[in-house]
Amino acid sequence: MDVSFDLTDQVAFVTGASSGLGAHFAKTLAAAGAKVAIGARRADRLADLAEEIAASDGRALPVELDVTDADSIARAVTIAEEELGAITILVNNAGIPPKDLTLDMEEAEWDRVLDTNLKGAWLMARAVGRRMVEHGHGGRIINIASVLGWRTTAKQVQSYAVSKAGLVSFTETLALELGRDGICVNAIGPGYIKTELNTDFLEGPAGERIQKRTALGRFGEPSDLDGALLLLAGPAGAYMTGSVIAVDGGLTLSTL
Ligand SMILES: NC(=O)c1ccc[n+]([C@@H]2O[C@H](COP(=O)([O-])OP(=O)(O)OC[C@H]3O[C@@H](n4cnc5c(N)ncnc54)[C@H](OP(=O)(O)O)[C@@H]3O)[C@@H](O)[C@H]2O)c1
Repeated sequence: MDVSFDLTDQVAFVTGASSGLGAHFAKTLAAAGAKVAIGARRADRLADLAEEIAASDGRALPVELDVTDADSIARAVTIAEEELGAITILVNNAGIPPKDLTLDMEEAEWDRVLDTNLKGAWLMARAVGRRMVEHGHGGRIINIASVLGWRTTAKQVQSYAVSKAGLVSFTETLALELGRDGICVNAIGPGYIKTELNTDFLEGPAGERIQKRTALGRFGEPSDLDGALLLLAGPAGAYMTGSVIAVDGGLTLSTL
C-alpha cells in the first residue's frame, strides 16, 4: 500500500518552536525524517531544542524569528534554505493569547495578538509560498488554528478567537490560490492542550468545566496532534487542501 507518513528529504520550517506545541511539532517532524528549521524569538530555547533533536539523530536548525517583522522573516527563511535546502513544509504555529477581554483591552494589545496570530501567518506563508512556487515542487502549509476559530464561549478572549477565525478563512482562501502550484494548505484546530500558553487557565475553575465538557474527559497532550500533523505534512495527505481538522477530544460536540 502506497500510503506514507515518511518525511525523508523534506525540509520543514516551524514557527513558535521555542516551547509548547511548536517544540513538539519540530521533534515529530524530525523523527519522521524531515530536516527542520525551528524559529522563535528565544534563541536559547531553540538551541536547547536543536541539541535535543540532534541527540535523537534528527537535524534541526535554530533561527531567530519574529513573525510580526517581515525583515526578520526574510532573514530566517533565507538562512533556513541556505543551510537545509528548499522548504517544503511550513507550520505556522507561533501564537499568543491576549491579556484582557474586549472592554479592558488597549489598542496595542489587540494589534499584538492579531499581528502575531494572523498577520504573522500571512507574512510567513507569503515568504515561504513565493519560494515554493519558484522552486516548483509544491509544498505544504499547515496553520495551527484553534477550535476557538469556529466556536465561542462567554468570557471568551475575543481577539484570540478573531485571529483564529481569520486563520481558518486564510487557510481556505490560500488553498484555492496555491492549489495549481501543488501547494496544499490546511489547518489543525486543537482543543485544549496543556502547554505554557494555558497552564494557569486550565488549572483554574474554567479548566475543570472544560474538562467535564470534553467527550474524552481530559485535556490533550501535544502528542495527540501528531496524527493530524503527519497526515497534513506527508504523502498520505496529498489530496487534502483547505481542510481544517479539529483535534479536540470531542470538546466542540456539545453546546450544553
Ligand atoms: N495549547 C493549546 O491548548 C492550544 C489550543 C489551540 C491552539 N493553540 C495554538 O497553538 C500554537 C502554539 O501554542 P502553545 O500552546 O504551544 O503556546 P506557547 O507554548 O506559549 O508557544 C507559543 C510559541 O509562539 C512563539 N511566538 C510568540 N510570538 C512570536 C513572534 N512574534 N515571533 C515568533 N514566535 C513567536 C513563542 O516563542 P518566543 O516567545 O520564543 O518567540 C512560542 O514558541 C498557538 O498558535 C496557539 O494559539 C494552542
